[in-house]
Amino acid sequence: MENTAEKRKTVLSAIQPTGIPTLGNYLGALKNWKNMSKDYDCLYAVADLHSLTVRPEPSALRKQTLEMYALLLAIGLDPQESIIFIQSHVPEHSQLAWILNCCTQFGEAARMTQFKDKSEKHPENINVGLFSYPVLMAADILLYQADFVPVGADQKQHLELARNIADRFNTVYGNTFTVPEPFIGKVGASIMSLQDPVHKMSKSDPNPRSFISMLDDDNVIVKKIKSAVTDSEAKVRYAEGKDGINNLMGIYSCCTGKSYEEIEKEFEGKGYGDFKAAVAEAVVNELRPVKEEYHRLMSDKAYLNECAKNGAEKAERLARRTLLKAMKKTGLYML
Ligand code: TYM
Repeated sequence: MENTAEKRKTVLSAIQPTGIPTLGNYLGALKNWKNMSKDYDCLYAVADLHSLTVRPEPSALRKQTLEMYALLLAIGLDPQESIIFIQSHVPEHSQLAWILNCCTQFGEAARMTQFKDKSEKHPENINVGLFSYPVLMAADILLYQADFVPVGADQKQHLELARNIADRFNTVYGNTFTVPEPFIGKVGASIMSLQDPVHKMSKSDPNPRSFISMLDDDNVIVKKIKSAVTDSEAKVRYAEGKDGINNLMGIYSCCTGKSYEEIEKEFEGKGYGDFKAAVAEAVVNELRPVKEEYHRLMSDKAYLNECAKNGAEKAERLARRTLLKAMKKTGLYML
């Protein structure tokens, strides 16, 4: 019988296990992972190798890797439907990264703004891993011939580098890799700090009131949103210069599905107090089921380990195929 089903497109993304992710990670990336998992063949990874670039405490890395894996399941990703795995369990990532390092120019890696920012912030540990970090990211993506990569706006430059590397490899050695497209949501791609809304919300921010952690208690979420920086206009509208309100509108829009216009109408004639209360409620409702599921999953480590093992096996089967193809093309002697 003829197979008329069209091949589904492939999606890959990953997140570093450097602490509990923020509302920014969730709305900018994880929520899209979940939405895409119905329509695409999806692979999602805990990028533990990437985290080594900031030299985490070994026991913390081990703990946070499992926590992040549990969170991926808790947001509703189904390990039967998507391939959910831990990056270091699939050695092909590091192997392909080396080959791709040799297809990346020093100058293009040096231009990465994240490398420059991190080097400035941590002058005591500017390691080579930090420099070639986006090349490992390219390997993560190209190994699975991913068509789409759902990420927040801060990863766009890395995605462009991955595309350039794929193009260059294909030109030099012949067609090998799918050139991936970033998938960046219209709303939520950059969730900003609640205290300083010109900077992105980040879990490494020393001020805990600037970010909402996905596992924050309901009352903590409410408090943080109440103390979010706004402006003196006291009018809920999306406009230049209203960074705090724009950010809260983005968060509210992501959680409720309402457009900016609808939000402006809803809060016409109302003050920021009412608006913040509604945003807080929406965030609390969004995260509550995730937290409950997370705590349930964390009490079943055997199940999590089993899922991670199965995920790595499935991922490796796909990764192996691409790696062997790339090795052959580059002229590495194969048996
Ligand atoms: P990471 O772990 O820093 O962040 C995970 C995802 O969350 C998004 N994000 C945000 N989105 C909106 N607003 C914010 N404030 C915000 N903060 C973070 C990030 O854009 C990202 O999508 N290098 C990657 C991990 C990675 C990867 C990959 C991603 C490794 N290999 C392959 C895609 C494909 C990173 O550090 O993300």
